[in-house]
Amino acid sequence: MSRSRPKISVIGAGNVGASTALMLAGLEHGDVVLVDIVEGMPQGKALDMMEMNPVLGWDSIITGTNDYADTAGSDIVVITSGIPRKPGMSRDDLISTNTAIVKQVTENVAKSSPNAILILVTNPLDAMVYVAHKVSGFPRERVMGMAGALDSARFMAFIAMELDVSVENINAFVLGGHGDDMVPLERFTTVAGVPITELMPKERVEALVQRTRGGGGEIVKLLKTGSAFYAPAASAVEMVEAIIKDKKKIIPSCVLAQGEYGIDGTFVGLPVKLGRAGVEEIMEINLSDEERSALHVSASHVKELCEHIETMGIL
Ligand code: APR
Repeated sequence: MSRSRPKISVIGAGNVGASTALMLAGLEHGDVVLVDIVEGMPQGKALDMMEMNPVLGWDSIITGTNDYADTAGSDIVVITSGIPRKPGMSRDDLISTNTAIVKQVTENVAKSSPNAILILVTNPLDAMVYVAHKVSGFPRERVMGMAGALDSARFMAFIAMELDVSVENINAFVLGGHGDDMVPLERFTTVAGVPITELMPKERVEALVQRTRGGGGEIVKLLKTGSAFYAPAASAVEMVEAIIKDKKKIIPSCVLAQGEYGIDGTFVGLPVKLGRAGVEEIMEINLSDEERSALHVSASHVKELCEHIETMGIL
């Protein structure tokens, strides 16, 4: 028997996907369908989570499957399928393998859930949002990428550790593409409302900005066999929650810019208001010349990647 709860599908039941499903189930944001290409694996993980429910008092239904028919009518689809980085690799090195995977997944998702909102997690993130947007034919309001939420979370975690204050006091903003040229906005990053530029010397702020830029790589180096998954999953869940609960929450997310910030036709991380319709507004804040040009550099890098995808003949 079906229940009238939000339906959230997570494609890719690996580290990020399984963690996302687990958090969504625990927070009871909806019923979760976990999909993977590997037979038995999503079914096994989903059953394991169902058996965890009674222990933790959670009441969500998690279904594992290899069949997109089970995802039909999803409200939101989180796409995490694809290979992660290994030490020495940049996110861009994943491009040909992950373009093919995201294309195949998006075709299936668009057929089974034509009204869904897509949240991409697969890297290289901004380029994968481009692929999903193009393949699905969905409007820009319903195709977005998770990057700014994670990059901002990393920046916030580093500031909290540096100043030894509660992470709850910290607000940070990271825009731009999900790469080494992302744009952490120091001016809008505050501790209990006070800009960090007033709380630490310039060199320390710069060191934390650099650590944020390399935050994903720092974890890849430690793990050796793959990339981060707890914080990426939590960040995707933050976006799902904002949409499912129609929160109108401002979360930096990868979206198709159509003239905002002087960028047109490129996917890049911008401050976005997320609600039940997906991307409900792109917030335009006044950037300094330096911030604006950093954003443009980041966007032009994404544009190059997308042009490269077009030459690969996969789409
Ligand atoms: N359809 C469905 N699932 C697929 C497909 C496909 N065509 N191709 C691969 N997968 C699945 C794999 O079987 C695997 O279970 O995607 C899963 C990926 O899981 P992991 O290898 O654990 O990778 P993970 O750490 O979850 O990262 C996934 O997210 O953060 C990004 O850079 C990261 O691109 C990577 C993605």
